[in-house]
Amino acid sequence: MRIEMPKYMERVGGLRIFGVQKVLELTGGKSEGPNIGLPGIVNVSRGDLEDLESKMTIIVPVKNENPKVLEGVLSGIPHESFVIIVSNSTRNTIDHYRVEMDTVFHYYRLTRRPFIMVHQRDPVLSDALPEAGYPYLIGNDGLVRNGKGEGMVLGLLLAKAIGREYVGFIDSDNYIPGAVNEYVDIYAAAFSMANSPYIMVRICWPYKTKFVGKRFYFRRRGRVSEITNKYMNLLLARVTRFESGVIKTSNAGEHAMTLKLAERIGYAGGFSIEPYELVYMLEEYSGVKKPRFTDVVKKTLEIYQVEPRNPHIHEERSEEHIPNMLKSSLSTIYHSMLADDELRKRIENELIIRGALKPGESIPEPRRLPIIKNVDAVKILKLLESSSESFIYAE
Ligand code: GDD
Repeated sequence: MRIEMPKYMERVGGLRIFGVQKVLELTGGKSEGPNIGLPGIVNVSRGDLEDLESKMTIIVPVKNENPKVLEGVLSGIPHESFVIIVSNSTRNTIDHYRVEMDTVFHYYRLTRRPFIMVHQRDPVLSDALPEAGYPYLIGNDGLVRNGKGEGMVLGLLLAKAIGREYVGFIDSDNYIPGAVNEYVDIYAAAFSMANSPYIMVRICWPYKTKFVGKRFYFRRRGRVSEITNKYMNLLLARVTRFESGVIKTSNAGEHAMTLKLAERIGYAGGFSIEPYELVYMLEEYSGVKKPRFTDVVKKTLEIYQVEPRNPHIHEERSEEHIPNMLKSSLSTIYHSMLADDELRKRIENELIIRGALKPGESIPEPRRLPIIKNVDAVKILKLLESSSESFIYAE
């Protein structure tokens, strides 16, 4: 994969936030010959990508997606990467989760690719999580709460138990397996160019592609992400005192990190998770306070943002979904210790204009989920293996 080196970088305390880099070629050819050493370009060979991908776990959160689309997503994930599917699909008269299990298991028979699959609301988790030292995902009904963030953190705990060096996320509603494949290659390419054990890479979709009338329409980014990026950059400016537009991936569902970093950042429930990771890293590692893990600051935490070539074509949700998603997303910035009154006022106004907040109504805090560093993740895996009905571990 041939990819631009970042042209721009913001250095904030222990963080290096790189500007968006573009993929130049999906397959960059041999890393030798006349192309080698072109300034500002890096070419990661297929062999190097495959080597990194074999050290990766990919977590796929699922909620009531079309099983054919899910199978397409799996087909795009490189064979050597370990897959963890965390599903919150409904289990009523039609047991959607059972349909997913059948689909994935049939697919396994043909491909023999290793995977784990679990239902987010599995009752075994009600005991397993507190016993392992992480009760924070459990809601009032005694089960893991509904929410994308909760599913992703459960996936991270299982990835921690598996112990591979890198962990990434891929949404399950992506119609283009080739795009999925490119995202994982991008994760690997960024890991190969990094200089720290604490790395995050976030996919920056250039367009959200929709079919309008008789042709495709390429809209510049998503409705929620455009707004969240604006306020995330203003939050960053509260630390640096210089406004910048460096952050373009506040809502990136597709992102990956080293397991070492995944164990050292906090998370949030629902659709707050992706922006909250950034807020957490700014609060903890930008030098405004003494970090809990000084090694991260010493070695620096690198955040890469990469623009792929494939179009992002995913399930279009209803318009009603948008204001709530925006509120969950902006609440992470609004309630940050770095935000001041002026920024909070602007966020309130934005949410009111977008119909996500009534005047005088307060913005709920994001459901914060603590770091997973000290959790006995193997215990969760063992308890699931011994007594769960929804759990599959296929090697
Ligand atoms: N396990 C699990 N649990 N998965 C979930 C849940 C849940 O409660 N809710 C949603 N998902 C899965 C969906 O099946 C899909 O694969 C992915 O999470 C994204 O959910 P969507 O409902 O499709 O959201 P979107 O694509 O409109 O949202 C975009 O913006 C969000 C806000 O930041 C995506 O970029 C999301 O990844 C992002 O979180």
